[in-house]
Amino acid sequence: MAEILLTAGDGIGPEIMEQAKRILHCFAKDIAFTLTERLIGGAGIDAAGSPFPTDTQKAAAHADAVLFGAVGGPKWDNLPLADRPEKGILGIRKALGLYANLRPTILWPQLTTFSPLKQERIAGVDLLIMRELTGDIYFGEPRGIRTENGQRIAHNTMVYSEEEIRRIAIAGFEAARKRRKKLCSVDKSNVLETMRFWREIVTDIHKDYPDVTLEHMYVDHAAMQIILRPAAFDVMLTPNMFGDILSDEAAVLAGSLGLLPSASIGGKSALYEPIHGSAPDIAGQGLANPIGMILCVGMMLGHSFNKPAWEQAIRAAVGDVLDQGLRTADIMSDGMQRATTDQMGSAIETALRKRLG
Ligand code: IPM
Ligand code: MG
Repeated sequence: MAEILLTAGDGIGPEIMEQAKRILHCFAKDIAFTLTERLIGGAGIDAAGSPFPTDTQKAAAHADAVLFGAVGGPKWDNLPLADRPEKGILGIRKALGLYANLRPTILWPQLTTFSPLKQERIAGVDLLIMRELTGDIYFGEPRGIRTENGQRIAHNTMVYSEEEIRRIAIAGFEAARKRRKKLCSVDKSNVLETMRFWREIVTDIHKDYPDVTLEHMYVDHAAMQIILRPAAFDVMLTPNMFGDILSDEAAVLAGSLGLLPSASIGGKSALYEPIHGSAPDIAGQGLANPIGMILCVGMMLGHSFNKPAWEQAIRAAVGDVLDQGLRTADIMSDGMQRATTDQMGSAIETALRKRLG
């Protein structure tokens, strides 16, 4: 019996998680699973005094896969860093050893007009960002604010061990090998020792992947190239912080942040989260787009349950509903039919059940 942990979190997290559940239930007759729901982020702070409460930690350690909604909101913005809702997601990634974050940019032909880029630029975009997720300046020690000679000084540390770079580089090369065999490794080796080391290790691992073309790119240049020629990229390998930044940039190419799923892997289990945040301004109004979250269920079935055909079926069902003209607020346009979060989820469920037969 597979254990799936649901951590809906804050803002629009709970309402999109409801839609994920609908989609999961379509497979109830094919796989045996239990669903456990636990608090995380601001919801954890309010109910249990911690963004990653102990019973959530326990459930996470048990689970075969985690579906994660979103965390954060203005209510908790003034808390010290160590107590903020974000500690929930950072904590669960670290606790489960999920060092590789896969963020695909999926283009929907029905929605290309929502891209901020000209049509000819986004044509053919199929980019996968492979972001390192448990190292770098996010977790580096020492960190903090100290006082020296009456002056306050803040510091964080960018740090990577050889092993940390090696394993994410291998994940990047392996992913490229299954795709168009191009890997672009992003760094800032013209300025930072840590990044020079990154480039050295990635170059070394490349010897084991002669069939994959490796290119190195400085992060500032990569930010520019994602806009200028996004279709030229296949897999982009990034350290944690640069990947955080570039993946938001790449995500918006598709038109709406609400459309994209992500997978965090590398441990004995895996975590799936839509890349949009908690969007507290639209929470509870039926405005949220559930597609990113629903595609997370697809990624989970494909990766954790080894059912790529089901992942394809979910993607196709989303395509069916977009073809029918149904649109949530973020992707609404003239002549289309407005749908609430719930209506969108329900339509995708219907299309999926039809496809599954
Ligand atoms: C993301 C988010 C997180 C990150 C935040 C919420 C801690 O921006 O998943 O990209 O920075 O990793
Ligand atoms: Mg981010």
